[in-house]
Amino acid sequence: METQENKVIFSAIQPTGTFTLGNYIGAVRNWVNIQDEYRCIYAIADLHAITVKQEPAKLRQHTLEAFALLMACGIDPEKSVMFIQSHNKCHAEMNWILSCSAQFGELSRMTQFKAKSEKHPDDINAGLFTYPVLMAGDILLYQADLVPIGDDQKQHLELARNIAQRFNQKYGELFKIPDPYIPKVGARIKSLQDPTKKMSKSDENPNSCILILDDKDTVIRKFKRAVTDSDTVVRYAEGKDGINNLMSIYSAVTGKGYDEIEREFEGKGYGDFKLAVGEAVADSLEPVRTKFAELMNDKAYLKEVYTNGVQAAERISRKTMTKAYRKVGFVDCP
Ligand code: TYM
Repeated sequence: METQENKVIFSAIQPTGTFTLGNYIGAVRNWVNIQDEYRCIYAIADLHAITVKQEPAKLRQHTLEAFALLMACGIDPEKSVMFIQSHNKCHAEMNWILSCSAQFGELSRMTQFKAKSEKHPDDINAGLFTYPVLMAGDILLYQADLVPIGDDQKQHLELARNIAQRFNQKYGELFKIPDPYIPKVGARIKSLQDPTKKMSKSDENPNSCILILDDKDTVIRKFKRAVTDSDTVVRYAEGKDGINNLMSIYSAVTGKGYDEIEREFEGKGYGDFKLAVGEAVADSLEPVRTKFAELMNDKAYLKEVYTNGVQAAERISRKTMTKAYRKVGFVDCP
């Protein structure tokens, strides 16, 4: 029987600027927590990032920063494989193979494709459309059992499963069918300014989004300005999107349940609650900021880690790639 240690975890994050609190609570923090239990592989998804226009110098900088940030958040290269996606050529190769098992119709139904097409009507490029195929390849190359993601990536994971099943049916068993691994609290952290939308770094209003490198004053100020409602009682209830969001953030950061939070703020107003959330979040991010600054001062070490990382990633994924080429009928590469 398979033990937990043999189970493979794969996930990735785009290097499009500093991570948000949503990325942290919904994904990265959980990646850290499972490192001792599973065989974990994590990537900075730079190939994905160019589906929307990037300034090359900034992308390079953001990729290095994202790599350092993962380590600052607690991903340990001694425990997990961590690498930069474009360094491992298997990802681009697998993307092509899987493109031939992905259907136009299913790709057209992806809500993120529709949203991004609306946002960038002058650049609806083919990469934006086939993005979920690249993502499927990322996961399937490592025969991942579980994929820790936030809620917004669930549809892409479902598609990855369909593509894998279709390939297996067409050519014979190759890919393991991965399951999503979604946190109970914090899978969808909302914007602080419009709590019906997800918190996103591409939001135009900087107050809507906590960045994990924001300093304490900034974090507290943004929480103080968070949109709530006209009620005054801190409780989790339908129609209280703003308060519900703050409660899920506070719960994720402190480990307290909703009942406990309601008791803690009984008789107190929203002002006290927002301040407490701001302080708890800022305190939990403080060590990340310190560690990040240290790592960015040691580029040689970062390079050593991503060099070792891609070697390990390439060793695992090349095996799947070679099998896939055989299955589809390509002549062995001399
Ligand atoms: P990305 O870079 O947009 O986000 C990285 C992770 O953060 C989660 N997340 C959130 N969770 C909760 N609340 C939020 N407001 C929030 N915003 C983001 C995302 O769900 C994600 O888990 N396509 C992926 C990157 C990727 C990937 C992969 C992921 C590429 N290849 C293979 C898993 C497996 C993306 O754009 O995530």
